[in-house]
This record gives sequence, structure tokens and C-alpha cells, in this order.
Amino acid sequence: PQSSSTFSDPFSIVSHEMSNLAKSIANLIGSGHPTLNRVSSYYFEAEGKNVRPLIVLLLSKSLAAIPLEQRNRIKIDTYDVTEQPHFKGTPTKTSVAGNSVDDSISPLAILHGINPKVILDPLSKPMDRLPQFDAVNGILPKQRRLAEIVEMIHTASLLHDDVIDLSDSRRGRPSGNIAFTNKMAVLAGDFLLGRASVAIARLRNPEVIELLSTTIANLVEGEFMQLKNTVMSNGETNSISNDGENKIIPEATGKVPTKQHEYSVSAPQEVDHITNVNAAFEYYLHKTYLKTASLMSKSSRAAAVLSGSQDDIIENCYEFGRNLGLCFQIVDDMLDYTASNATFGKPSQADLKLGLATAPILFAWKEQPELGELIGRKFSEPGDVEIARNAVDKFQGLEKTREMAQEYCYKALENLRVLPESDARSALEFLTNSILTRNK
Ligand code: FPP
Ligand code: MG
Ligand code: MG
Repeated sequence: PQSSSTFSDPFSIVSHEMSNLAKSIANLIGSGHPTLNRVSSYYFEAEGKNVRPLIVLLLSKSLAAIPLEQRNRIKIDTYDVTEQPHFKGTPTKTSVAGNSVDDSISPLAILHGINPKVILDPLSKPMDRLPQFDAVNGILPKQRRLAEIVEMIHTASLLHDDVIDLSDSRRGRPSGNIAFTNKMAVLAGDFLLGRASVAIARLRNPEVIELLSTTIANLVEGEFMQLKNTVMSNGETNSISNDGENKIIPEATGKVPTKQHEYSVSAPQEVDHITNVNAAFEYYLHKTYLKTASLMSKSSRAAAVLSGSQDDIIENCYEFGRNLGLCFQIVDDMLDYTASNATFGKPSQADLKLGLATAPILFAWKEQPELGELIGRKFSEPGDVEIARNAVDKFQGLEKTREMAQEYCYKALENLRVLPESDARSALEFLTNSILTRNK
């Protein structure tokens, strides 16, 4: 009899693509620099949730169920037209100059005996020279590459995020900044972004290039909204206010901690001067869109663009990713209150200590206006964190947060209904529901 796990795994329809993901990414990020290789592959070694590539692949497979004659959106990039599965017309291919050279193979590396062949990767082939479609499951090679790119961008942002947040763990291991150093973590993140950008360019689709470039900018904007006006616990202000002063990163204080861990002594605390709870919710949701939902929504849109689908499908795919992303981050913010470090794989109960007002405390603020003062000073006085946590309990902040996430989850499920019924669509529905009920 079929084992229940095989039977019930809705993601098995893309398991082939998912199991190749890490290997394909490894091919995209090889360099001639062994240490750089170690740092930039570090987060890929520990099994992450891979939610973003899973969304892209399942959505791509769902889109493949749309009959070809309904996917005749006129594209600027004629290569996309040739990439429809079962395309019968004559491909309008122009010849492309020979394989480009990988600039990152430095003459020095060769001098030092590093074999350039080791670094040779599929990036040396523009995507329009790869097989046109995967007849087995309808997922286009470009969509598979999109899944890899999205995980690379996400991982780059995590390397940077752990430096910014002074984190010490991720995916159950020391975070990149701890395992290597801030500097190497930042550079490895930049390198991943660089390689992701090459891969994006080689998709040869201007609309997708624009979408993915925008998500990178959005990630930074979201992070900036969170960083805005931070206070270090040494009392100094990291202000980006009108006077233009912008100082205080730990290294710039002149008091460089000897151990990375000691950075947590001067964790940044957000100080924005929002005094109105509705404005605070608006700020919170906008920030959440930028830092989490943008990548999911714009990569979902890109998957639909690559499928050649019509505008209303593309819009719904975008909205699906947006609603799912908002749900995902709101649940993340809820789990920050409830999960243990062990199940979460990263520090939990961190947000209040970082001075961050997320949905649970904002819901409590709605009921108890005096909390505005604590939020305004970013829980910096002794006892503030405990008062905030008790208020969250007293006013059912977590339950209300869950309801909010649920609304986005339902909206995401509604967006999926424009897609034809298929196993892939069912798997996306399952994924959407499990994001709401996840505990890590
Ligand atoms: C995790 O959030 C972080 C993000 C979702 C985005 C971080 C973005 C940047 C650092 C901007 C730089 C971007 C690029 C592309 C290099 P979190 O800190 O709330 O979650 P966590 O608990 O997983 O750390
Ligand atoms: Mg962060
Ligand atoms: Mg973080």
C-alpha cells in the first residue's frame, strides 16, 4: 500500500524541481574564492523552508494548466512566445553571441592553480539557449530559474538582516555574521545579489527584470522603515531625521565589541514618532509588504508573466503573492511571541526587545492607549517589555493577529480561484493554509 506520507504530500508534484534547487543554486554561486564560497553557500546548506521557490514552482505548474490559446499575451520579448509548451509556430529566434565569459574568474585565481572549470556554471548559457520547455510537467526552465533567483535574493537579505538585527542564530546554526564576521556576511550577501542579477538578466525578459529589481529595492526600503530612527541602548541615536545625522553602527562608536555576541548589548531600537494607532498599523503593513510580501508578490507575478498568461491572471497571481506574503509575515510576528528558540531556529521573543511594535502589541494599544508611550520609547525602560507582553495577553493580541493573518490567507485562496483546478492549485491552497497554521 502507498505510504501515507507519499500519498498526502501535496508538494510531491514539484519534488523533482525542489530537490534540484540547492544543486542549481550551487552552480549559480560558485566563485574562484574558497572562503567566499563557504560564506555564500552557508545558509543554503541548512535546510530552509524554501517557501518562496515552492510558491514560484507550484504557481508555475498551476499556470501550465491554462490552455495555451488563453496564454497569448503579446510580449515584448519574443523568446517567451516560443517557450509555450507545445508551441507549434516557428520560433522567432535571432542568433545570440557566443557564451559570455565569467568575469569573476580572476587571472590571479588561475595563477594560484584554481581550476576555472570548477567555477563554470549554467550562467554561461543565456536562458534562451536552454531547452525551450519541460514537456514532463509544464514548468518552464525560466520559471525554474526564477525559483532559484528568488531564493538567492531572499538568502542575501537574510545574511544582511542578521548583521542588522545582531542575530546569533539562523536555521538552528550560528548565523552568518557569527560564523564568519559581519564583513564577510555582508559581502557574501552582495555577491549573491550580484549573481542573482546575472541570472535575472539572462532570463531575457525586461518585465521580469523590472519586477525582480524592484523587489530588491523594496527589501531595503522595508528594512529602512524598520531601522528608521534607531536608538542604541548606549543612548546614542541612529537618526535619519532632518538634520541628516546618521551615525552609530556598532563599529562606528569606537567601542568595537570583541565578540560578535556583544553587539546584542547595544541592540538597535526603533524610534518612530507615530502617536496614532491607525497610522501605526498602516506603517506596519506597508513595512511588512516591502520587507516580505514584495518578493512573494512580484515573483508570483513574474511566474505568470513568463507563462504568457493574460492580465487578469497576472494581477491575481500578484495579489495572491501579496496576500500570502502579508499572512506569512504577520504569522512570523505572532510566532516571535509564542515560539521557542528551538522550534523557530532563530531567536524568538526578539521583537519587543529590539523595540519593534508588530501586530500583537498594536492590537493591545488599540485597547489601552497608554501603551503608546511604551511603544514610542521602544520599550526601553526597565519592565516595559514585560508590561507589553502582559498587555498582549490581556487584550488577546495574538488571537487578533491570527485573525488578521487569516483574512489575508482567505484573500490569497480567493485569488487562486482564477486558476484552473489542478493538483498544483490544490497544493498551493494547502501551502496557503499551512502558512497560517505553521509553528516555525
Ligand atoms: C527578515 O526579517 C528580513 C527580511 C525579510 C528582509 C531583510 C532585508 C534587508 C536586510 C535589506 C537588504 C536586502 C538585500 C536584498 C541584500 P526579520 O528580521 O523580521 O526576520 P528574522 O526573524 O528571520 O530575522
Ligand atoms: Mg530584521
Ligand atoms: Mg532578523
